[in-house]
Amino acid sequence: MTVAITRRVSPRFTECELTHIERIPIDLEIARAQHAEYLKTLEQLGCEVIELPEEPDLPDSVFVEDTAFILPEVAVITRPGADSRKPEIETIIPALAPYRLLVHVSAPAALDGGDVLVLGKKIYIGLSTRSNMEAVEQLNCTLEQYGYTVVGALLTDCLHLKTAVTRVDDSTLLINPSWVDSSHFQGYDLIEVDASEPFAANCLPIQGKVIYPTAFPKTQKRLTQRGYDVANVNLSELAKAEGAVTCCSLIVE
Ligand code: GLY
Repeated sequence: MTVAITRRVSPRFTECELTHIERIPIDLEIARAQHAEYLKTLEQLGCEVIELPEEPDLPDSVFVEDTAFILPEVAVITRPGADSRKPEIETIIPALAPYRLLVHVSAPAALDGGDVLVLGKKIYIGLSTRSNMEAVEQLNCTLEQYGYTVVGALLTDCLHLKTAVTRVDDSTLLINPSWVDSSHFQGYDLIEVDASEPFAANCLPIQGKVIYPTAFPKTQKRLTQRGYDVANVNLSELAKAEGAVTCCSLIVE
């Protein structure tokens, strides 16, 4: 059974952090309704969805992806780069503990899970405003025993590495090559976003389908023309907080 750990939208969601987009009004109730639809999609795809209670004082806490990443051997609890987000890990630790041995990164390392792209035994860390080389170095030490190599990847113009590139399947990535250098990913089949849809590189493959936003029809066509079966979700209000489909869950296979 695939487990999806999620968290309800905070009542202070409209006070979210922002890095690369302008603040525009967010409708909290629409955000909550869209989040509920996202959870329903996960359930329809066969996931057991765990919904953690809302965090009244942590605006970005719906974006649980940033608090951890999960490998077959261990789960790594992050140290989020924004101070307002650091406390988010406290309730994720007990939520993940039943599934994996937990390991941690510690100061001066900073790491958002949105910057972590796991491709087999190679782990890419986006060197963003949230994640740093100290995290790369610590993770190389911690995860070497399990056969992983951890490398940094420079980013431009976006919040997280997974804003710029995500895994579609074991051999295929969806990428915006303007925001991350595609030469990092030689050997992979790269599907580029349509140039008019720069935020379209974030997708979430689950159980043979690809969860994907309704906002990017041109890039979606590139996925469907390659034979991928897309499950659409509308996350427009969460996108105003720089959130996307991977951000709202921690997937435990
Ligand atoms: N609002 C998402 C983040 O900045 O972490």
